[in-house]
Amino acid sequence: MSSVLYKNIDRQPSWAAGGEGAWLIDRDGRRYLDTCGGVAVSSLGHRHPRIVEAIERNARELSWAHAGSFTTAPAEELAELLVGLSGGLAQAQFLSGGSEAMELALKIAYQYHCERGEPERTVLISRRQSYHGSTLTTLAISGNKLRRSVFEPLLPPAEFVSPCYEYRDRGADETQQQYAQRLADELEAAILRVGPGRVAAFTAETVVGSTSGAVPAVPGYFRVVREVCRKYGVLLLLDEVMAGMGRTGHHFAYSEDGIVPDLVAVGKGMAAGYQPISAVLISDGIRHTLGSGSGVLQNGQTHVNHPLACAVALEVQRVILDDTLLPEVLSLGEQLRERLRARFAETPMVGDVRGRGLFVGVEFVADRASREPVAEPAALAAALKREGLARGLLLYPGYGTIDGERGAHVLFAPPFVTSPAEIEEMVGRFGDVLDACG
Ligand SMILES: Cc1ncc(COP(=O)(O)O)c(C=O)c1O
Repeated sequence: MSSVLYKNIDRQPSWAAGGEGAWLIDRDGRRYLDTCGGVAVSSLGHRHPRIVEAIERNARELSWAHAGSFTTAPAEELAELLVGLSGGLAQAQFLSGGSEAMELALKIAYQYHCERGEPERTVLISRRQSYHGSTLTTLAISGNKLRRSVFEPLLPPAEFVSPCYEYRDRGADETQQQYAQRLADELEAAILRVGPGRVAAFTAETVVGSTSGAVPAVPGYFRVVREVCRKYGVLLLLDEVMAGMGRTGHHFAYSEDGIVPDLVAVGKGMAAGYQPISAVLISDGIRHTLGSGSGVLQNGQTHVNHPLACAVALEVQRVILDDTLLPEVLSLGEQLRERLRARFAETPMVGDVRGRGLFVGVEFVADRASREPVAEPAALAAALKREGLARGLLLYPGYGTIDGERGAHVLFAPPFVTSPAEIEEMVGRFGDVLDACG
C-alpha cells in the first residue's frame, strides 16, 4: 500500500515520469497526448527550455523571503507586468493556489466595505453551476452541487443567480441581448431581495470551466451585469483561475467582454504548472480605500509573493508575450472547434461545441433536437477517461454539466505550444474514443 493519500483512496493513479511539449510520459514509457493541460494548467507543455533555465537561475539567487519583511524583484516585476496587462487594475498579490486567491479576493471585498463604513455588506452573490475553490467560503459560493456534497452543513450561506448558459437557457424567441438583460434583471432582483446595503460582491467565472465545460457569456452580458453591480455598490469579482492567463487568447478573459472588474483571481496557467502560484488583482478604488483607511491588508500567509514562484510565472508570461502565443491560441482554438464540429457533424451524442481560444467544451446529449441530457452521465465520463487513456489521450470529462446532476461534457484546454498536427491528432483519437463509448 502506498503512503500517499490519493483522491480515490484505494486506487493508485498512473505514474507520470516525464513530459515533452504536449505529451506526458508514464514510467513504462507510454506517451499520452494532453488535450487538457492536466486541468488547464500546462500552458507551455513540459521541459520548456526558457522555463527550466529560469528555475535554475532563480533558485541560485534566493530560495525564499518573507513578504512581511521583504519584497523581491520577481514579485515586483510580475505584478507590474500583470497590472499593465489588466486594462486598469492597480495592484496584485501572489498566493499558491486558486482557492486561496479567491478566498483572499472575498476577504479584500469585505474589508473594503468595512473600511467604507458598511460592515453589514456580508452577503456574496454567485452563479449556480460555478466552481470557485475548495476552501469552505469559496465552496460556499460555488453553485455546483456535486462539489459541495458532504460539506454542505459547514458552508456559510450565499445567494445564487442563474449562469449565462446560452445552449441550455436562452429562449428560442430571445436575442442574445434580451437574454443578457434578463440575467442582469435577475441579479438586480436578487440584490434588492437581499437588501442593496447588504451585498458585498457578485462573483462569476468569466468563462465557466470545469463544471459546465467552457461556457462563455453571451456578448454584452458582463456589460449589463457590471452596470447593475455599479448601481448598488456591489463589487464585481471575476474568477479567472481557469480562464485567465492566455487560455482564451487574451491575458485576461474579461477583456473580450469589454469590461474591467473590481477584483480578479488568476491561477492555474500563471506559471504553466512549473510552480504553484495564483494572484488577486484589485482596482485602484479598493487600493485607495484600504490604503487611506486602516492601511493594512488583513491577511497574511506564509507563501505570499513567493520569489521563485513569481520568477517562474514572470518567465512564463514573458514567453507568452515574446513568442506571440496568444494569436496562436486563437487560431489553434478555431482549428480545434472547427475540426470537432466537422468530425462530429453526424454524431448524435455531440450536442454542442463551444468556447474561446484553447478553452473548448463538448457537451453530450441523448438527443440533439430536444437537447435531452445523456442517460448516465457519470458512467459516460468514466468511460471517456478510460478509453482515452487506452488510446494515449489525456481527457478531462465532467458530468453534472447542467445542474450538478444532469449532463456530461469534455473540456479541452491543451498547451499553447500544441502544433496544428497535434490538434488534428487529438480530434482523431477523441473520435475513436467516442466511437468506443457511443
Ligand atoms: C474557476 C476556478 N476557480 C477556483 C479554482 C480553485 O483553484 P485551486 O484548485 O488551484 O485551488 C478552480 C480549480 O479548478 C477553478 O477552476
